[in-house]
Amino acid sequence: MEIIIKENGQAASEAAARVVARLVREKPNAVLGLATGSTPLMLYRELIRLHQEEGLDFSQVTTFNLDEYVGLPPEHEQSYRRFMNENLFEPINIKMENTHVPDGLAADIPASCAAYEQAIVEAGGIDLQVLGIGSDGHVGFNEPTSSFASRTRIKTLTQQTVAHNARFFAGDESQVPHHCITMGIGTIMDARMNIMLAFGANKADAVAATIEGPVAAIMPASVLQHHPRAKVFVDETASSRLRLTDYYRWVYNGKPDWQRDA
Ligand code: GLP
Repeated sequence: MEIIIKENGQAASEAAARVVARLVREKPNAVLGLATGSTPLMLYRELIRLHQEEGLDFSQVTTFNLDEYVGLPPEHEQSYRRFMNENLFEPINIKMENTHVPDGLAADIPASCAAYEQAIVEAGGIDLQVLGIGSDGHVGFNEPTSSFASRTRIKTLTQQTVAHNARFFAGDESQVPHHCITMGIGTIMDARMNIMLAFGANKADAVAATIEGPVAAIMPASVLQHHPRAKVFVDETASSRLRLTDYYRWVYNGKPDWQRDA
């Protein structure tokens, strides 16, 4: 794993955006895996800026989102489809038909999950997957104890995640769906590159356990220790519980230019 510690979330997001932009320039028909939540917002804003000011071209890019709430229609204010449309897809030149978010209203959820996996395969697999992390270490909505072999499926959220996400539903926990569809950990591990972003003190324990703790299903993100190309972008506060911060900075600062955004 490569650990990139920046002074704040904005600087970390700009560094992550450079990795995404380099991939899209080198492979214009890249397949991106995308995440929701508050964490990737600065990354998406930077990608929009790169599109508008530097001509970063998304016209051939395909995307697959990690997850969606079960029961929310795409136009619902808190659906992840709407989040993506508003925060990334509409301001860039991506073709909407090339964007994929799991269908929270699917009548046959297992069939819809299998079709999602198949669509990823048919697109050539995910080149780069963007990840946030829950304070309990979840990735996508793969809550603690999710199988490392899991594929796209329905999951039940933990009470902690329901409570945490209630802030997006006017603080009303009863409005937060209890079920979601999420890519599995196996699906995420199939991506050729994974980039995780984590900002703020409430992520510090999960970040430390993910990077320096044992690989265990109780801390789903720790599986990234087994990924051949995983980068973790953190701000100072999210890095505060790591033991080897001096080493991570030493490695990053010593990188040759050609390797920096690869
Ligand atoms: C949500 C999403 C995750 C996200 C996480 C953290 O539950 N399903 O993909 O990484 O919570 O959210 P935030 O970035 O708002 O802290």
